[in-house]
Amino acid sequence: MKIVLPGGTGQVGGVLRRALTAAGHEVVVLSRRPGRAGEVLWDGRTLGPWAEAVDGSDVVINLAGRSVSCRYTDENLRAMMDSRVDSARVVGEAIAAARKPPRVWLQMSTATIYAHRYDAPNDEATGVIGGDEPGVPGYWAYSVEIARNWEREQERAATPQTRKVALRAAMVMSPDRGGVFDYLLWLARLGLGGPVAGGAQYMSWISDHDFVRAVEFLIDRDDISGPVNLAAPGPLPQREFMRVLRRASGMPVGLPATRWMAAVGAFVLRSDTELLLKSRRVVPGRLLDAGFTFDHGAWPQAAADLVRRTRRERSRARRAAARS
Ligand SMILES: NC(=O)c1ccc[n+]([C@@H]2O[C@H](COP(=O)([O-])OP(=O)(O)OC[C@H]3O[C@@H](n4cnc5c(N)ncnc54)[C@H](OP(=O)(O)O)[C@@H]3O)[C@@H](O)[C@H]2O)c1
Repeated sequence: MKIVLPGGTGQVGGVLRRALTAAGHEVVVLSRRPGRAGEVLWDGRTLGPWAEAVDGSDVVINLAGRSVSCRYTDENLRAMMDSRVDSARVVGEAIAAARKPPRVWLQMSTATIYAHRYDAPNDEATGVIGGDEPGVPGYWAYSVEIARNWEREQERAATPQTRKVALRAAMVMSPDRGGVFDYLLWLARLGLGGPVAGGAQYMSWISDHDFVRAVEFLIDRDDISGPVNLAAPGPLPQREFMRVLRRASGMPVGLPATRWMAAVGAFVLRSDTELLLKSRRVVPGRLLDAGFTFDHGAWPQAAADLVRRTRRERSRARRAAARS
């Protein structure tokens, strides 16, 4: 298949690009700064020659969006919103204008669309969309609004020959440098992987391996459209999640952090505490109903596998650096 990945130069794009290329597909990445083979220039906002890559392709998976791991300044929040809404809109325009439109358009969304809650898991049918939960900082509603607008842009696109799926993805855990797993493992190794603000907030996650499998499954399944949760079936409280990761990485201690310490840490790391404190309890209702099975459905096995692969890849990189 010919698969187009707008915004495919980031962490999730790297995961998909490696796997889809290895599976024998032709992968074209749309980037604002193309550098590598297979990358094509676009601006993420306006139609241009890049749309020719979409015409005649089989699948489009739009991943573009300003990173959410940043300080939530007005400017950054606006860029987080605009980059997602504009890119979804223009991808829809390119598909609508194509002589031979792709069979399916997978649009990245996020598990953050669901409410901050502890009491029950959110699936697609019964889950509560966030935005007006009591007792959480008011600005958290903005992340939900971004996700809603992002999905709405895909919904309203007039692409009658193209099936549309919104990927409500949890944190994608991969060994790549700069990804969320890299960051959590780094914290664990520093001895800082303890409970944050009590650690009762749920962490939803999916292994890179199952993320790719779920994407392939959704490409194949012509009967599935609309929002689909991409999350392992076993979300767990942050304190438990980090305990498992500490064990997998051989770090016995994990200092707890208060809400205030988390705020200082997030500031130093140029990030925001919402990423640490929001309880994301999300389960893959539609994937399981459709018969998808997870290879890494439980965090202890997934964490052990990720730590093993991270070590292997780091030592391979060290050997390569020593040779050059
Ligand atoms: N990583 C996760 O665990 C996770 C979980 C759920 C949802 N998501 C969502 O999935 C998408 C991909 O995630 P990721 O971790 O791969 O993100 P990432 O590493 O930040 O990469 C996203 C890509 O989007 C492009 N981009 C950034 N700012 C842009 C802008 N203003 N206009 C147009 N394009 C822009 C960049 O490509 P160029 O600079 O090459 O143009 C960048 O490589 C994001 O939208 C993210 O919110 C990620």
